[in-house]
Amino acid sequence: MKSKNTITIAAPATVANLVCGFDILGMALNEPADIMKITVSDKPGLKITHTDDYGLSTVPEKNVAGVSLLAMMEELPAGTGFELEICKNIMPGSGLGSSAASAAGAVAAANLLLEKPFSESDLVRFAMNGEKLASGVKHADNIAPCISGGITLIRSIHPLDIISLPAPPLYVTVVHPQIEVKTSDARQILRKEVPLKNAIRQWGNIAGLVAGFMQSDYDLIGRSLEDVIIEPVRSILIPGFDDVKKRCKEAGALGGGISGSGPSIFMLNKEEKTALEVRSIMEDIYNTLGIETRIYVTTMNQKGVKIIND
Ligand code: HSE
Repeated sequence: MKSKNTITIAAPATVANLVCGFDILGMALNEPADIMKITVSDKPGLKITHTDDYGLSTVPEKNVAGVSLLAMMEELPAGTGFELEICKNIMPGSGLGSSAASAAGAVAAANLLLEKPFSESDLVRFAMNGEKLASGVKHADNIAPCISGGITLIRSIHPLDIISLPAPPLYVTVVHPQIEVKTSDARQILRKEVPLKNAIRQWGNIAGLVAGFMQSDYDLIGRSLEDVIIEPVRSILIPGFDDVKKRCKEAGALGGGISGSGPSIFMLNKEEKTALEVRSIMEDIYNTLGIETRIYVTTMNQKGVKIIND
């Protein structure tokens, strides 16, 4: 029997793609995180409220957490209902996995409350409905690390095949210039075909990055953080991008690039000291450009969605 009917969870921000792994690699961060309170009730249906001020729809069918929970509810006994209160700290359109945190957080919270009737793979399956609503396409590179923490490789979504990768300690500096890039637009502008020579270079980088994480080889990680397919197209939407990358690498960052579909830019660092220097460089560049930012200096989140109050 269920022992409680409410819990509160934190759903972490995530960096999808990790530069070369478009739609197949992602990493969870310790900051920022959305906070969600879920209550199960015997009244059927789903009620959503937002305590943030982003003006997101509270109609379940138009809300990424809503469509994900509705997909889960189809596989629960008829008559199970939920009330969900969402406080978003991950700004929508930031490139930090905001929609994934809502979608994954909602279904992971419901699963924890119901004492885990579903596997992590089921949760990813439900939450991809949220990504479909947000960006028009199902992808799991934010959802999987949000749920399970760490770095995940999505080998396939049909069928789901998700691998958690080990990685050495990393400090992550993320700058979010306060402009909005919609994932759906950032996907629309991509070329549908890739020249073979670019594909070969990208495969080398993805394999190198995975090997670098597994072997704790920081130099290999740095060399492999190169994207010859997506970044040249999307970076045009982000003021200051080339300068941030160049100057942060000169200051000792391993490398980095666009976080998810942008506009946030992330840099991986071996040392905290470098992560803080990278922060100053980012501040300097965007101050000069007159663009406001939010900057996070954080580390990899190893837990994924976690209960913060039950
Ligand atoms: N892989 C996705 C993209 C992540 O880059 O479009 C954004 O949600």
